[in-house]
Amino acid sequence: SWTPDNIIDMRVEQLKQQIGDKQVLLGLSGGVDSSVVAALLHKAIGDQLTCVFVDNGLLRLHEGDQVMQVFAENMGVKVIRVDAEDRFLTALAGEADPEAKRKIIGKTFIDVFADAARDVSQGSDGKPVEFLAQGTIYPDVIESAKSHQGKAHVIKSHHNVGGLPDDLQFELVEPLRDLFKDEVRKLGIALGLPHKMIYRHPFPGPGLGVRILGEVKKEYADILRQADAIFMQELERSGWYEKTAQAFAVFTPVKSVGVVGDGRRYAWVIALRAVETIDFMTARFAHLPYELIETVSNRIMNEIAEVSRVTYDVSSKPPATIEWE
Ligand code: XMP
Repeated sequence: SWTPDNIIDMRVEQLKQQIGDKQVLLGLSGGVDSSVVAALLHKAIGDQLTCVFVDNGLLRLHEGDQVMQVFAENMGVKVIRVDAEDRFLTALAGEADPEAKRKIIGKTFIDVFADAARDVSQGSDGKPVEFLAQGTIYPDVIESAKSHQGKAHVIKSHHNVGGLPDDLQFELVEPLRDLFKDEVRKLGIALGLPHKMIYRHPFPGPGLGVRILGEVKKEYADILRQADAIFMQELERSGWYEKTAQAFAVFTPVKSVGVVGDGRRYAWVIALRAVETIDFMTARFAHLPYELIETVSNRIMNEIAEVSRVTYDVSSKPPATIEWE
């Protein structure tokens, strides 16, 4: 019968068989799928697993530290954190077009990951890496079998590290390939991953890169991280985080006039986005209580000097998309 513990035991056995005493590399994003793969592989092969976590500077507040805390500190998983903020921001400088930004982020990710993979596979202990693990789940398999046109194809191409250079050819390990998201979540909980990590909203591969409209700058990312963290705190506090499928703040490169004390403040506009959806193909803007929106808006304007105005996005999908870019 399908119980998480049965599945875990079976997969652990299969992984041991498949991998033997070889070394495995995994790109850890902190998302549900790669996290569950990391936990599963750690259970199966322990120290033969090395994870690479790329901090692209486009993550949410404290996100990188949290990933390190859960995996490296609590679980004893070998994780290499690559601080690549400068590399990503330099590559993105001057680019305002959404699809061009996605491409740059995807390509830079591959480059950074490939460099790290080379370092690991030339490893100090002289044991080459033969396997690359990926958090591919069943819907990804279906998705990539479908049309190669449009965004659907783009969606997972960043997480799943296709397109690695020729000198880095690995055999793939994809232990979640036949599982649906809800099954993956159950495995994650049974493997002892934090509830918060397993039930969090989806976060796009390009991260804040597509939530900062137009050109990406560190200054904007820092403001957005603060605003987003306030929004998340209040959603969680009010019980609305679980009632929405996805929620986030957006940095608009628009300045607006405000008033603080005796003075005027000419500062940035932050937009809040929250949606209800089952399949992410269509979505309705979440009907958050006005009081909640008011609390979030006041906190953002009071706590972040660089923000003078907050708006709430009342667009549904279609015709709007969930992300602003
Ligand atoms: P849209 O904005 O197309 O988003 O309505 C639908 C879902 O897909 C996510 N999304 C992405 N995920 N890379 C990703 O990994 C991307 O480039 C990307 N664009 C959108 C979005 O967050 C939402 O969950």
